[in-house]
Amino acid sequence: MLRAAGGKRLFIHDVAPRDGLQIEPVFVDTARKIALVDALSRTGLAKIEVTSFTSPKAIPALADAADVMAGIQRAPGVEYAALVPNVKGAERALACRVDELNVVMSASESHNRANLRMSREQSLSQFADIVGLARGAAAVNASLSTAFGCPFEGRFETDRVLPWVDRIAALGIRRLTLCDTTGMADPAQAQQLCAAVRERHPHLVLTAHFHDTRGMALANVLAALEAGIERFDASLGGLGGCPFAPGASGNACTEDMVHMLQQMGYDTGVDLPALLDCARSLAPLVGHELAGQLVKAGPSSRRYPLPVAATAQVAGVGACA
Ligand code: COA
Ligand code: ZN
Repeated sequence: MLRAAGGKRLFIHDVAPRDGLQIEPVFVDTARKIALVDALSRTGLAKIEVTSFTSPKAIPALADAADVMAGIQRAPGVEYAALVPNVKGAERALACRVDELNVVMSASESHNRANLRMSREQSLSQFADIVGLARGAAAVNASLSTAFGCPFEGRFETDRVLPWVDRIAALGIRRLTLCDTTGMADPAQAQQLCAAVRERHPHLVLTAHFHDTRGMALANVLAALEAGIERFDASLGGLGGCPFAPGASGNACTEDMVHMLQQMGYDTGVDLPALLDCARSLAPLVGHELAGQLVKAGPSSRRYPLPVAATAQVAGVGACA
C-alpha cells in the first residue's frame, strides 16, 4: 500500500553520461560531456556516473573517459563514479581519481559473454583483483546486469540471482546495484528480488537500476521503494541502454522519476528546475527527441490561463449567483 513519504531521504544517481551516451551513434565531444556533468553536479544529485573505462573498440562513444574525468569540476557532496569491466579499466579509472569504481557483470552467462567477452567466473575473479587495487583509493560498487531477465535466456527468478549476490558480497564489496538491463522486470518481481537481497544482505548498500524498455521503470521504482530501496539510478531524458543487449533502450528518466518522488513527499535532494534545464540541453547534444515526459508537460504544479470562453462563463455564473 503506497503511503505519503513524510520527507524520507532518497539518493538519486544520474547515469546519462555513461549508460545514456554509450549507446548513442553520435560522438558527443569531450567539452560538451564535461559541461553536461558539471551542470548535473549543480542539481543536488547524490552520484553521477561520469563515463566508463571500457575498450574504445567496444564503446567508442566513451573513448575520451580520462579527458572527461580530468575536465569536470567536482562538487562537494557528489560522488563521481565510472563503470569498469576489467582490471585494466579499474587501473585507468583509479589513475583519474574516481570516487567509485562501478564494476559490472551479468547474472546471465550469455549476456556476460556478449557484453564483456568473458565468463561470469572470469568477471568475479577480476572483481577480486579490483577490490585489492581500489582499497583506500575508491569505493567499489558492483552492478549486476540482467538481474531480472536476459534477452538471450529469459526471465530470472530470485533464486537464480541470489548466489551471484552472495559471491559478490563475499569479495568484500559493500555496494550493489540490481540492474534490469532490458526492462524485463515487473513490479512484483522487482519487489521480490529487492526485498530478498535486503533481507539476506542487510549491510549491502543497494541501488536499483531500471530500464523503461517496456514502460515499467517507474512502476518498478515504486515496487523497489516498497522493498526498502533508497538509492536509484536513472538517466536524464531517459537516455540509455547496453549496446550488447538486443532490444535495449533507455533508463528510467531522472527528471520524471524525481518529479514523481517529490510529489509523493520524498526528499530527493534534487533541484527539479535545475534538472529540467539539464534535460532541455540534451536533445541538441544527441540530435534527437528524448523519452522524458516532464520536459514536454512541465511539473504538475504548472498552471495554464483559463480559455477566454470559459472565463466568460465563470463570470456569468458569478453574476447569477
Ligand atoms: N580499457 C581500454 N582498453 C582495454 C580495456 C579497458 N578497460 N580492456 C581491454 N582493453 C584493450 C586491450 O588493451 C586490447 O588492446 P589492443 O588490441 O590494442 O591490444 C584490446 O582492448 C582487447 O583486449 P581484450 O582483453 O582481449 O578485451 P576484449 O576485446 O575481449 O574486450 C572488454 C573485453 C571487457 C574490454 C570489452 O568487451 C569491453 O570494454 N566491454 C564493455 C562493454 C560495456 O561497457 N557495455 C555496456 C555497459 S554494461
Ligand atoms: Zn543500464
